[in-house]
Amino acid sequence: MDKPRQGGFESGAVTSAPNKCLVTGAAGFIGSHLVDRLLERGQTVVGLDNLKLGTLSNLARARENPRFRFFQADVNDTAAVSRLLAAESASGPFAMAWHLAANSDIRAGVVDPDVDLRDTFLTTHNLLKALREHRILRVAFASTSAIYGVHPAKLTEDLGPLFPISNYGAMKLASEAALSAALESFLERVWIFRFPNVVGSRATHGAIYDFARKLKANPAELEVLGDGTQEKPYFHVADLVEAMLFIVERASEPLNYYNIGTADSVTSVRQMAEAVVREMAPGAKIRYTGGSKGWVGDVPRFSYSVEKLRRLGWSPRLTSDQAVERAVREIVQETQAG
Ligand SMILES: NC(=O)c1ccc[n+]([C@@H]2O[C@H](COP(=O)([O-])OP(=O)(O)OC[C@H]3O[C@@H](n4cnc5c(N)ncnc54)[C@H](O)[C@@H]3O)[C@@H](O)[C@H]2O)c1
Repeated sequence: MDKPRQGGFESGAVTSAPNKCLVTGAAGFIGSHLVDRLLERGQTVVGLDNLKLGTLSNLARARENPRFRFFQADVNDTAAVSRLLAAESASGPFAMAWHLAANSDIRAGVVDPDVDLRDTFLTTHNLLKALREHRILRVAFASTSAIYGVHPAKLTEDLGPLFPISNYGAMKLASEAALSAALESFLERVWIFRFPNVVGSRATHGAIYDFARKLKANPAELEVLGDGTQEKPYFHVADLVEAMLFIVERASEPLNYYNIGTADSVTSVRQMAEAVVREMAPGAKIRYTGGSKGWVGDVPRFSYSVEKLRRLGWSPRLTSDQAVERAVREIVQETQAG
């Protein structure tokens, strides 16, 4: 993999633009799609990622654009982030930060709770210190449906009290609280997006990604955790990025918080497994390990309210099943090519 030097800048001039932004987690699945879309819209983007889960290949298109600069660093390396923001601010102020850097492997955070403390919460805490120092007063934050924990009721934004069942969900909820507190002390505006399972090309994790890898290794059989009946709303990354941009443009309260997802539309794990088998290895046997939960910390079934987002004027193009079908094609193609 073609890596820039650790903690260093890639070469390439930055043009000063009114809409310059910082994206943390830029080399990840969602971050890299967001970067591409921001660049398409004419923005100048400074991307930051430690490349622990993300890859530079996700940024192949962005790195050809002179309005993009990538910086490989850990968000928790406060000295490096401060140097980066000081250097980049010299060519024009940042309009905002998009904070997506986090541990996205919920299971890894169950095995070792320090993972989410460090990468899901402290990244928010440390980024906020840097934003305060460099007077970047607007932040958009990638939160999650995992903050809600297990609830029989439809998950609306004002549901509470909230008791997440994963360290990941707990640290995302704590991050939301830290953002709300920073709003009181220095931030001007915060956008919080709570999204469910996102699918699509460049995925770095998730059920479709796992199934495709397992089938590549053994085209005769696919092992699936749980009994296959777990069902959730799945959302395509292309729709997600459009929704995030829409919310930032339209929602102008100091604190804006939105569920992003599909309304009343869910897909089961069984459907996903069958779709991957059809696309990749027709005839492969699917073996379910049993039980209603895939793994500790997994919320097996929930129903998501996206009424608030609809009232703001945005609706997704794809249902959950359509998002899964498209993502299966994209991920199988990438897995076969990789
Ligand atoms: N994919 C989903 O289904 C989903 C659902 C809800 C919320 N989210 C949130 O959206 C964001 C993006 O998720 P994703 O699916 O693209 O995951 P991802 O793992 O592909 O992207 C996260 C990126 O952050 C980077 N990163 C992690 N810790 C870092 C650190 N300390 N310093 C610098 N970089 C760091 C990783 O290398 C990775 O590239 C995350 O905050 C995630 O929690 C994702």
